[in-house]
Amino acid sequence: MSNKKNILITGGAGFIGSHVVRLFVKNYPDSHIINFDALTYAGNLENLRDVENSSNYTFVKGDITNTDEVARVFQKYEISDVIHLAAESHVDRSISDPSAFVNTNVNGTVNLLNAAVERWKGRYANHLFYHVSTDEVYGSLGDTGLFTEETPYDPKSPYSASKASSDHFVRAYTNTYGLRTVISNCSNNYGPNQFPEKLIPLLIHNIKTGKELPVYGKGLNVRDWLYVVDHARAIEVVFNEGKPGETYNIGGHNEWKNIDIVELVCDLTDEKLKRDTGSARQLITFVKDRAGHDMRYAIDASKIERELGWKPSLQFEKGIALTIDWYLKNEEWLNGVTSGDYRAYYDKQYAQ
Ligand code: NAD
Ligand code: TYD
Repeated sequence: MSNKKNILITGGAGFIGSHVVRLFVKNYPDSHIINFDALTYAGNLENLRDVENSSNYTFVKGDITNTDEVARVFQKYEISDVIHLAAESHVDRSISDPSAFVNTNVNGTVNLLNAAVERWKGRYANHLFYHVSTDEVYGSLGDTGLFTEETPYDPKSPYSASKASSDHFVRAYTNTYGLRTVISNCSNNYGPNQFPEKLIPLLIHNIKTGKELPVYGKGLNVRDWLYVVDHARAIEVVFNEGKPGETYNIGGHNEWKNIDIVELVCDLTDEKLKRDTGSARQLITFVKDRAGHDMRYAIDASKIERELGWKPSLQFEKGIALTIDWYLKNEEWLNGVTSGDYRAYYDKQYAQ
C-alpha cells in the first residue's frame, strides 16, 4: 500500500476486527484507520487499548444500519476504502433471533454499499470496498471435499443466509454500479479476544470456573480452524493485492472434530492450571444438537496461496496453547465480557 488512505474498518472492536485494526494501525502509519463500531455485546474497546492513542487511529461509535451515521463518517473522514467486518456473527443467536441478522448483516451491508456508491461515484478506480465473509455461505460438506471459490452458495442457518445475501449484494454493486469490491470467505477463527459464546473460549472459561462443557449432538461435526492473526494477515494481503471483483477463500488446512478439540483443550488447560490429568474431561456434557447443525466445513485455500502468496503461519498446537494462555492470563477481560448480558444469554441457550 503506497499512498495515504483513510480506511474505514467496520466492526473493529470485535474479535477479528480488533486484530485487523491493530495490524493496519501498526503497518500503515501514513494512513488513517477509522474504526466504526456500534459496540454491541460483542464489541469491546478493551481489545484495542494498545493502539487507542495512536495518531493514525480514530474510533467512531456508530451503527452500520443507520444511514445518517454512515454518511457522516464517510464525509467527515473522507473515507477512501472500506474493510467491512461488522456483523452479527453467532449461529446460535441467529437461530433464536434471525431478524437481527437480516438487519445488521444484510441491511447494514447495503447501507454501507450505498454510502460508498454515493461518495465515490465516478471515481471508483481509486477506492476499494472489501467485504469480509465466511465459509458458511457454502453450506455443509460430507466426509470428503473442500469449499472452493466456485462452490455454489447453499447457506443453511439464518447467520449464513444473511452473510450469503450480503455477499450477493456486494457482487451486485460491482456488476451494476462498477464499485470495486473484493470478498474473502474464511473458516472458523480462534485466538485472543473472541467472545466466549464461541466454542473455544467458552470451553476455556468453563474449565476454569468448573462448569459443564456443552458438546452439541455427538461432537462429530468438523470445523477448519485458523488463528485469528493469520486471518488478519490474509485480510491485509487481499486488501493490498487482491484483484477487484474476485473472491478469496481463507482457511487453516486444519480440520478437527469438535470432540477432539474439546478433549485437547481440556488436557492442555488442566496442564496449564496444574490440575490432575483428566479432570476437565469430566465436565464434558453432551447436549441437544444445534438445529440444522452443519456437519463439516473445510476450505481449499490454494487460490490465495497461489495468487497472493498467503498461507497460515502458525501450527494449531502452538496457536491453541497461546490462546489458552491468553484467556487464563486475561481474567479481567473474561470477567468483564461474561458479566451482565452474557449470563442471561448463557442461561437461555443452555437451559436443559
Ligand atoms: P464479533 O461478533 O466478534 O464482532 C462483530 C463486531 O461488529 C462487534 O465489535 C460489534 O460491536 C460490531 N457490530 C455488530 N453490529 C454492528 C452494527 N450494526 N454497526 C456497527 N458495528 C456492529 O465477530 P467476528 O467473529 O470478529 O467476525 C467479524 C466478521 O468476520 C463477521 O463479518 C463474520 O461474519 C466474519 N467471519 C467470522 C469468522 C469467525 O470464525 N469468527 C469466520 C469467518 C468470517
Ligand atoms: P461455533 O464456535 O459457534 O462456530 P460455528 O458454529 O460458526 O462453526 O461452534 C463451533 C462448533 O462447535 C460447531 O460445530 C458447534 C459446536 N459447539 C458445541 O458443540 N458446543 C457449544 O457450546 C458451542 C458454542 C459450539
